Amino acid sequence: MRKTHDHRFSQNARRMKASEIRELLKLTQREQVISFAGGLPNPDTFPIENLRVVIDHVMTEHPRDALQYGPTEGHNKLRDSIARGMGDVYDTPQSIHNILITHGSQQALSLVSHIMLNPGDTVVTGAPCYLGATLCFSAFQARVDSVPLDGDGICVNLLEDKLDSLAAAKRTPAFIYLVPTFQNPSGVTIPLERRRRIYELACRYDTLIVEDNPYGFLRYEGEPVPLIKSLDEEDRVIYLSSFSKILAPGFRIAWMAAPESIVNKAALAKQAQDLCSNTFAQYCIFEAMYHDMLFPHIEQIIGLYKGKRDRMLGAMDRCFPERARWNRPEGGLFVWVTLPEFVDTRDMFAKAIASDVAYVVGHAFYPEGGGQNTLRLNFSHASDEMIDEGIRRLGAVIKAEIEEKERALEDELIGGF
Ligand SMILES: Cc1ncc(COP(=O)(O)O)c(C=O)c1O
Repeated sequence: MRKTHDHRFSQNARRMKASEIRELLKLTQREQVISFAGGLPNPDTFPIENLRVVIDHVMTEHPRDALQYGPTEGHNKLRDSIARGMGDVYDTPQSIHNILITHGSQQALSLVSHIMLNPGDTVVTGAPCYLGATLCFSAFQARVDSVPLDGDGICVNLLEDKLDSLAAAKRTPAFIYLVPTFQNPSGVTIPLERRRRIYELACRYDTLIVEDNPYGFLRYEGEPVPLIKSLDEEDRVIYLSSFSKILAPGFRIAWMAAPESIVNKAALAKQAQDLCSNTFAQYCIFEAMYHDMLFPHIEQIIGLYKGKRDRMLGAMDRCFPERARWNRPEGGLFVWVTLPEFVDTRDMFAKAIASDVAYVVGHAFYPEGGGQNTLRLNFSHASDEMIDEGIRRLGAVIKAEIEEKERALEDELIGGF
């Protein structure tokens, strides 16, 4: 008989549960299902030929260092390029001592949680919020308090109310977690004025901001908005970004730009996790940056994804019923859909799968519940033809669901008389 080891798990491990969303996503693996559920970059964007040249160069010029362990903080040349790049691109120059290379931004979230959160501490997020972040905060036994978003991101008046009530309850949050640009899942971007107010609130209530920005480079229209990090006169912002969406997620290379004391503490935590990030990948990415491959490559990605975003929005205009609402994200990978209140996108999910199309149930992104009538669509991964066909299928599912629910409501009303 197979042994079970459940009783040996730590209390922390026992608290870990597979999210409902993971279970639902398993259903999307069937070949015939057109899935808008994942958040994957399109492999057509991976610069395979250029990377072959870069890898060859690294193996010829630096094989002994690139195949070796490296410093926990990261390959110094890469840290330096990133530090200077943040000055060139975002007018937010950093010193190399402010940069920590991480194993994806997901590790950065875990490191920040590790060094900042005690069990029972509070983190404030928007609702909806990136699921990988809330899972991470909960794994460190934090309480996640959320504030609704509107079309311009987290509602700043409600954030002020939240911080006020937390202060009154002596629960100053460890930090406010935000994806201010092309948020996952909603696609919305916080305008500058609101960023200023959020920053002022962080100062007034003496907390930090974790600004998670994996999508900022993927802008298809409109003017770039300065980073919250660029407003950071009091060293309160921990900035995270990643090469996952602008080069290849398989490298698992990302970075944190933060006050030196935080970088140093996070490096200590990282030592216990993985000693150092993948040295070979760091060398390759540095060479790609050094040989000016990255920014032309990002331009190509933008061209492809802008076409896909427009394709999806066009198909939604044609196929979705009038009572569905959605935004027009200026960048990133996601469109956020809101259906009438009486539709539950969890109930509808099985019908979508039966019609061979998949999305992510919006409710999964609400740390404190809610969002039952919302869903997230990814437009970067599917082919153009799949986008047309998948949206046609989903439009029919949504239409049928709204009609069915409306009929049921009418019947209830008649039954009530
Ligand atoms: C908002 C956000 N943060 C962090 C991550 C993690 O990215 P990675 O670990 O690949 O850098 C993702 C992944 O999709 C994300 O959407």
